[in-house]
Amino acid sequence: MAPSLAAAVLLFLLAPMSSPAAVLAADGGTTTHLHLFMHDILTGSNPTAVQVIKGPSAVPGLAFGDTTVIDDALTEDPSSSSAAVGRAQGFYMMTSQSGGAVLTVCANLLLTAGGYNGSTVAVMGRDDIAADVRELAVVGGTGRFRMATGYVLWKTNSMNGPDATVELDVYVTTGGGATIDSSSSSAAVRVGGWVSAVFVAVVVAVVGSYV
Ligand SMILES: *[C@@H]1O[C@H](CO)[C@@H](O)[C@H](O)[C@H]1NC(C)=O
Repeated sequence: MAPSLAAAVLLFLLAPMSSPAAVLAADGGTTTHLHLFMHDILTGSNPTAVQVIKGPSAVPGLAFGDTTVIDDALTEDPSSSSAAVGRAQGFYMMTSQSGGAVLTVCANLLLTAGGYNGSTVAVMGRDDIAADVRELAVVGGTGRFRMATGYVLWKTNSMNGPDATVELDVYVTTGGGATIDSSSSSAAVRVGGWVSAVFVAVVVAVVGSYV
């Protein structure tokens, strides 16, 4: 009986220590707004966007499956000659068989300026290029944006032939727990931790007393 009682006491003391992570996750997150311009250049001697797959199509022009790989400059100013603060690296593909040009965009926004240098935001979403504003998802990030969630409002700022300047309003939330945001739920997590610890201790003590 003595060893099982010791085990029960130990479990009673240790079990609640697994709950602080859940309590931390219940804290509100921090949302950062990044306002950027992406320069998608297909023409000229230094294109940053290169079509690597041509989808099969009976007619010339955009086709289902067309895929372009990008390493586009990101600037804080609409002018492409302004200083770059990052790169948009990834690809976009024509993924609608009807209803006009719709792209699936998959890109990492790599920031290279200031305190964000080296941090990335992973963006994945649907870009219906006929719409004024498109909303894409922030599906993750690294560095300052580790475990990020959020969204990007994506607008064509200007076109010059096939070349486009796209305005990005990126809202990135880090620090987690944006969806669980009340002190009562963290109290519930703490109480839940103690209740399960007591339950485990009682089970161990009862089972132990029969061994
Ligand atoms: C960003 O980080 C790279 C690699 O660590 C470094 O070479 C570069 O100078 C940094 N740029 C800025 C603007 O801090």
